[in-house]
Amino acid sequence: MKTKLFSPGPVLVSDEVRNSLLHYDICHRSPEFEEMFAELQQNILKLFEADDSYYAVVVSGSGTSANETCLSSIFADGDEALLINNGEFGGRLKEILEKHGVPFTEIAPGWANDPDLGEVEASLKANDKIKYICMVFHETSTAMINPVHEVGELAHKYGRRLFVDCVSAAAGQHIRVVENHIDICTSVGGKCVGAYPGSAYVCAKKELLDGLTPEMGKTVYLNLAKHYQMAVAKHQTPNTPNVNLFWPLNTALKAIFAEGLDQYIERHAAMTARCREAAREMGLKMLLPDEKMSNTVTSVFLPEGKNVNDFIAAMGKDGYTVYAGKGKYLEMNMFQFATMGYITDEDVDGFIAALRKNIQ
Ligand SMILES: Cc1ncc(COP(=O)(O)O)c(C=O)c1O
Repeated sequence: MKTKLFSPGPVLVSDEVRNSLLHYDICHRSPEFEEMFAELQQNILKLFEADDSYYAVVVSGSGTSANETCLSSIFADGDEALLINNGEFGGRLKEILEKHGVPFTEIAPGWANDPDLGEVEASLKANDKIKYICMVFHETSTAMINPVHEVGELAHKYGRRLFVDCVSAAAGQHIRVVENHIDICTSVGGKCVGAYPGSAYVCAKKELLDGLTPEMGKTVYLNLAKHYQMAVAKHQTPNTPNVNLFWPLNTALKAIFAEGLDQYIERHAAMTARCREAAREMGLKMLLPDEKMSNTVTSVFLPEGKNVNDFIAAMGKDGYTVYAGKGKYLEMNMFQFATMGYITDEDVDGFIAALRKNIQ
């Protein structure tokens, strides 16, 4: 059944984005691909508010593939990481580091809790093998925004690099890689930009990328040095990419800049604010206060006695997809709704009406 996706990805896309999937077939080793890829790279840099000391590459895969591309490629032997883990996706970064044998110190304040910045600073002071701090910008599992700027300041102060998973943040929040001292970050089409899943991308400092070699990479396919070298040499990808998804991603980004990135972010934040206000009026409790939550995702508890799976099914029947809470929050009857991608004010009206009906 066709529903309005009020879930944190995949998202609804505009007709313009959907129609760009129908672009005629081209070869990824053609000047036409190279031209489009070069334009897409520039648009990705713009999304992250990067300057010309940064470079962007595209990875054919989901958001995890971009994260794994980075974390399996940037560590030389002997390098260590400092991981900030306060949710499902911080946990996913941990899994990737473990899988690739990267030694790390973990700061795990528990889901939905802020990391202790004193602990971050003490870890950096104590261990100069730590080359990267790794963290999630918008921890989607709780809807919490992490203190990226403050951590970036510490990374800068101690001469370390900062990797940030911006999968659910880009185009929903200002990423501002330069002023937040983010050296390398990721996102994917099927989230706030309003394109499709499977088109992931990485934005990183050129100086960082220049220091990588394909041998440092622990995989053949998700190899950042290879992606970078092919992109610099020819605006191509090392393997056959999902060419058909490049067009919609570029179309979605161009539409964001035509509207204005500020306006796009504010419009989505305003839709979220309307949903939250309505949910509060209905007596629903949120996991976090507004100032801690992202512009796009909201974590809400259902009233006592209401079953989350039944509620989600009822919302689906009324035409709205929402998401079950994760981890311990599922047992606490938490669900999440999101205003990512192509959602209109009318969709929000309908969503609020369905919510009112189904929490009874
Ligand atoms: C913050 C964050 N990181 C990583 C991922 C994983 O992305 P994917 O499911 O596209 O691999 C998600 C997915 O929702 C996410 O929200």
